[in-house]
Amino acid sequence: MSDVPTPQDPRIEQAGASDESIQKVHAILLREKPEPKEGYTPMPLFLLGFITVMIFVCSLYLIHYRGGFSPMVYDERYDPSKAGANAQVAKIDPVAQGKRLFQTCAACHQATGTGVPGVYPALAGSEWVNGSEEQLVRIMLHGLAGPVKVEGKDFNGNMPSFGPGGGYNLTDEKVAYVLTYIRQEWGNKAAEISADKVKEIREKSAGRAKPWSAEELEAIK
Ligand code: HEC
Repeated sequence: MSDVPTPQDPRIEQAGASDESIQKVHAILLREKPEPKEGYTPMPLFLLGFITVMIFVCSLYLIHYRGGFSPMVYDERYDPSKAGANAQVAKIDPVAQGKRLFQTCAACHQATGTGVPGVYPALAGSEWVNGSEEQLVRIMLHGLAGPVKVEGKDFNGNMPSFGPGGGYNLTDEKVAYVLTYIRQEWGNKAAEISADKVKEIREKSAGRAKPWSAEELEAIK
């Protein structure tokens, strides 16, 4: 027996349609194709109306909430013609800002400000936190390393710099916010630290490139 398959051979897949029927379908498809047109089709009226309304609504929004296009404004209710009345709205709460920044410190000093015994000193009740601004701001700007006594307990670690040399490089305002926060949280009751004070100390200690030792800070007061 030869191995050439015949049309009846089950090894040949039966075609789904005959040549004739395929030609018929093609003829219909060719006939029903829309005639190509020259030029552009006009925009649907609905779309035109929608875009017009959107432009109108956006303009109204801008007129109401533009804030005088001042780069200093991020309060949409700000109106430069009533600057006096808005002064209240624009005031920043340093403690709230500081609390957010404190997330970075909490990794070591803990959210409760109690630190970790023998490793990270406490900020709650600490004489460094509640003491001299001159020392506290320097600890933030340049870090602290070596032996230090906090609330009668000894530590000998490494506090990173949050100033120009460190990876964080906080602005004067941010240093002031976070220090004000730790001076008024967990029962601490020391005075607020201003951004101007931070700026002043930053200028005085400008040449400093390594962390302070507790001994050096004691001499500054
Ligand atoms: C990587 C861990 C770490 C981070 C993050 C850190 N500190 Fe410290 N901090 C220390 C260590 C360690 C010491 C003690 C340094 C020493 O032993 O000389 C210290 C000491 C201090 C002190 C002086 C001692 C005391 O407990 O009062 C203050 C104030 C302080 N840190 C505040 C902060 C603030 C504010 C932040 C966040 C902006 C912060 N620290 C972030 C590890 C850290």
